[in-house]
Amino acid sequence: MKLFVDSGSVKDIEALASLGIVDGVTTNPSLLAKEGGDYRAILKRICEIVQGPVSGEVVATSAAGMIREGRDLAAIDPHIVVKVPFTREGLKACRTLSSEGTRVNVTLIFSAPQAWLAAKVGATYVSPFVGRLDDVGAAGMGLIQEIVDLFDHAGYGTEVLVASVRGPLHVIEAGRMGADVVTCPPAVVEQLFKHPLTDIGLERFLKDWEKAQAVKA
Ligand code: G3P
Repeated sequence: MKLFVDSGSVKDIEALASLGIVDGVTTNPSLLAKEGGDYRAILKRICEIVQGPVSGEVVATSAAGMIREGRDLAAIDPHIVVKVPFTREGLKACRTLSSEGTRVNVTLIFSAPQAWLAAKVGATYVSPFVGRLDDVGAAGMGLIQEIVDLFDHAGYGTEVLVASVRGPLHVIEAGRMGADVVTCPPAVVEQLFKHPLTDIGLERFLKDWEKAQAVKA
């Protein structure tokens, strides 16, 4: 399973990419708005750092507007993936952009039928939002299982990109279910590293080593 970082922060992305664990990045208008500055320059910089798929989202709501914005985003860098919302207009835009060779990520997916329709119009990725489903008392990861099963039989090659991830359990369940990609905010990636026994274990190794050196001296 590929790991994408869900962020518009060049600093955070740079730090994680230097560890060799980042396969791509997803952004959305909220994340880029938080960064401020020129969003095209930010996306370009992220592409240079990651050298993998980087989703940039359209804000138009008509198909014509999304196609215009999508072409503009795709011109920033060959690594750009155009993110469109799951709407009727979004599907039209997805079909056109995909037929032009631009990769499209259809976002705001909350059901298996939506994922299937997006796959039918050539989406490279579908982004089901697990955390936001959990927030309203629905089973976010249940949807992932449903879409993975569905795409095994009727997926048209579209990848399942698990989004709105809130913690390590979402990540590991996604992998076990056979999702293709999980996109995590930097804070969740941070949590993936943590285990108290690792810290305690390292501390003990170093202390024992120091003690042995002191005895020798
Ligand atoms: O980029 C889309 C998605 O990952 C948003 O997550 O935490 O705002 O529900 P969240």
